[in-house]
Amino acid sequence: CGIVGYIGSKEATPILMNGLKKLEYRGYDSAGVAILHDGVIKMVKTKGRLATLESKLGTTDLRGNLGIGHTRWATHGEPNDVNSHPHISSSGKIAVVHNGIIENFMKLKEFLISKGYHFQSDTDTEVLANLIDYNYKGDLVKAVMNTLNDIEGAYALGVICTDCPDEFVAARKDSPLIVGLGEGENFIASDIPAILEHTRDVKILEDREVARITAGKVEIYNLLGEIVEREPFHVDWDVASAEKGGYEHFMMKEICEEPAVLKATISPRVRDGQIQFEHFKLTDEMVKSCEKINIIACGTAYHAGMVGKYAIEKLARIPVDVDVASEFRYRDPMVNEKQITIVISQSGETLDTLMALREAKKKGSHTVSIVNVVGSSIARESDDVLYTWAGPEIAVASTKAYNTQLAVLYLLALKFAQIRGTVDDETIRYYIDQLMQIPDHMETVLQDKEAIQRFAAGHYNARSIFFIGRNLDYALSMEGSLKLKEISYIHSEAYAGGELKHGTIALIEDGTLVICPMTQDALFEKMVSNIREVKARGAVVLAIAAEKHLDEAEKAADAVITIPNIDPLLAPIVAVTPLQLFAYYVSVMKGNDVDKPRNLAKSVTVE
Ligand code: G6P
Repeated sequence: CGIVGYIGSKEATPILMNGLKKLEYRGYDSAGVAILHDGVIKMVKTKGRLATLESKLGTTDLRGNLGIGHTRWATHGEPNDVNSHPHISSSGKIAVVHNGIIENFMKLKEFLISKGYHFQSDTDTEVLANLIDYNYKGDLVKAVMNTLNDIEGAYALGVICTDCPDEFVAARKDSPLIVGLGEGENFIASDIPAILEHTRDVKILEDREVARITAGKVEIYNLLGEIVEREPFHVDWDVASAEKGGYEHFMMKEICEEPAVLKATISPRVRDGQIQFEHFKLTDEMVKSCEKINIIACGTAYHAGMVGKYAIEKLARIPVDVDVASEFRYRDPMVNEKQITIVISQSGETLDTLMALREAKKKGSHTVSIVNVVGSSIARESDDVLYTWAGPEIAVASTKAYNTQLAVLYLLALKFAQIRGTVDDETIRYYIDQLMQIPDHMETVLQDKEAIQRFAAGHYNARSIFFIGRNLDYALSMEGSLKLKEISYIHSEAYAGGELKHGTIALIEDGTLVICPMTQDALFEKMVSNIREVKARGAVVLAIAAEKHLDEAEKAADAVITIPNIDPLLAPIVAVTPLQLFAYYVSVMKGNDVDKPRNLAKSVTVE
């Protein structure tokens, strides 16, 4: 979910609405704003997107200089008008916007009902509003602090109170929240783009901190009620990079940025033929004595981790386990101080991943994160952070962040190999040279967009699409299939080329589309056999192959998209882009909302 808050001398509603628009990628099931004016809280909220809220607001007089707003990704209670945020206490005194989940809300609700409070919604947030109301004895900060002591779970909060026309309160635990510092005005938001048009100076709230925000001042307290000093953080990326810049969709803009962001991610880390990471605390000794690496992530980042496993095992000869974050945490993982844990996250705020990171740290593992959002929770809590310099990624379906995650994983694999002496200097130089060529190869792939668009035009009505690949192409297939599912809503599955025949091949029938990346030279012939197997059952096959294999690929498949010749180990960075483009075009042709697919949110800060 996304949260915005404002206090100052301007009209709050338009500022909140503009902020929410920048956060809509965090969820868009419902939205709302609450404004305090003349001692009364007025609220407008609705199921659906911000556009619906905007038209509802058009008929309401919602004036005032203090307010909070919310865009929701539903957890407790279906997305409808009543369950939308903000939520107001039954006395009408307190309004709250909340991101996260309050786990003990049922018990608290019963308690509040016994005290005469009544409820309209199914949400945990309404419980929060009433509990703050119950705890309010004249100081809003204290009321919020006492409430936080009673609740279990995760939260980022914005709270306003009819008794407090000159301040509002924010708090966080396990869910991101920043304070934007203006001149005679201040802001809160779940993420920086929401306030960037007003200020570049932000303070990041830490877990269990509460902030009192007035137009002229921001005070941050710990839960003991002591003031905490926090240095502001200056944002140096520009607003334009968080806007569409002439493209029809963020997703296409972000795919087209891939050559540039790969360059920004790779080049600064290669100096005199050596790989160097900024402020890296992981010592050579730790790398040499490392017995196992754990890679943990969710969604697209998890698929990047699968590629990382192949690269690290091949180059550095360290065994690697790749885990989905939500599974890792709850299986009592065998982690110790002889292991290195790599967590990957675009947003740096995915709660499953954050919790898994904490679990690995607790068990003594050194943690390295690969994160895109500077200053995010995962970046701050890991021992080392390697940023993917992909810039803001707004489309819910991740594209350029994935390519850059791969680039960082390859750099890490090479660095580890160098330290452990598992490959010679010449091989390192060869791979560095190959990596440096990738941005140019990406340009070549993007020039071929129309071929993919034409192919998509023939298949956007498919009922089901399969991806098969071997080795790195299997990891790549998983990502290609996820991208397609996320934005086209077409059923899709990814299988290891050799595994399909052990059951799933029963689903292949006349005309079923099977997409086959075949970038691994050593397994090319094996993939040709797999293609024959599915074609014999009526499948239509699209192959993704290196230029040098065009002739053989054309003989095997019905259509071929080529990628430039590149070492097979690095091929997924380049070969994923045609798959991203295919998903994009299918989604556009189906008339879907490409950047904001149904049921998804870009940054999921609940478990
Ligand atoms: C969400 C998004 C996915 C994303 C995953 C991990 O579920 O919808 O597209 O891959 O979170 O996000 P992260 O920010 O941790 O990379």
